[in-house]
Amino acid sequence: MSPKPYTHPDAVPFKPLDWTGLEPPRFAGPVPNHVAVVMDGNGRWANKQGLPRTEGHRVGVDAMLDVIAGAVQAGVKHLSVYAFSTENWKRSPAEVRFLMGFNREVLHRHRDQLNEWGVRVRWAGRRPKLWGSVIKDLEAAERLTRENTTMTLQMCINYGGRWEVVDAMREMAEEVAAGRLRPSAISEKTIARHLYVPNLPDVDLFIRSGGEQRTSNFMLWESAYAEMVFDDALWPEFTRENLWRAIQLFHARDRRYGGAVDKPTA
Ligand code: IPE
Ligand code: IPE
Ligand code: MG
Repeated sequence: MSPKPYTHPDAVPFKPLDWTGLEPPRFAGPVPNHVAVVMDGNGRWANKQGLPRTEGHRVGVDAMLDVIAGAVQAGVKHLSVYAFSTENWKRSPAEVRFLMGFNREVLHRHRDQLNEWGVRVRWAGRRPKLWGSVIKDLEAAERLTRENTTMTLQMCINYGGRWEVVDAMREMAEEVAAGRLRPSAISEKTIARHLYVPNLPDVDLFIRSGGEQRTSNFMLWESAYAEMVFDDALWPEFTRENLWRAIQLFHARDRRYGGAVDKPTA
């Protein structure tokens, strides 16, 4: 797949997504129920073209929408996208400011489109530090799309897997202190109920673009048995076809969940 040619986004409006002409392949099994995506490589992509990192984030939104469309087409029920991590505050103030404003713009610009596709938007992340205006827009998108059932889209903004577990522990500790929860009754299910999106199904397929092979604190609890697919494409070059290829790789995996089958071959 050759990278999409770059046109300055101010000169060209975001391209409308077309559903025609590009159909998902015939998959060898049921599509993964929950796909998590680390959208990595925006900055490197932009710098490679002699542009500032922020241009990579701008172009990366097209890739995100294309992947959302491809996930809906394939029949994925839950898609989680990592848009800003609890560690991304370490970046330059200018990049952080850009990303905050930009996430709002993305929500404004595309929430009606997502709604039309039947996508239910949910925010997964921490309140502290996150701009109030971003939270407001996330909550507005959640309200607008609340009734949609085609697919849920977890927008992971100010999300960190460790913080998600810490925040769940804090809530549970408060319930214990108030006498509403018995420590001996705490199970994996209790923890899952206290995560940012309660009872989100486990991640089946975890995809990372940009060539790095690490989770960077994404979906730690939910990905315990996820199949990992690392794609070298930088995020702005990533398309729904990359997603479908990852799903094909997923189908070639043998998920054992700790079990074993005795099958001597010689
Ligand atoms: C991922 O791309 C997007 C965000 C973290 C918001 P990067 O900005 O990490 O791009 P690289 O990895 O530096 O190329
Ligand atoms: C992960 O990418 C975070 C997002 C994609 C939002 P990073 O670029 O922040 O991760 P590291 O620094 O390479 O681990
Ligand atoms: Mg990165």
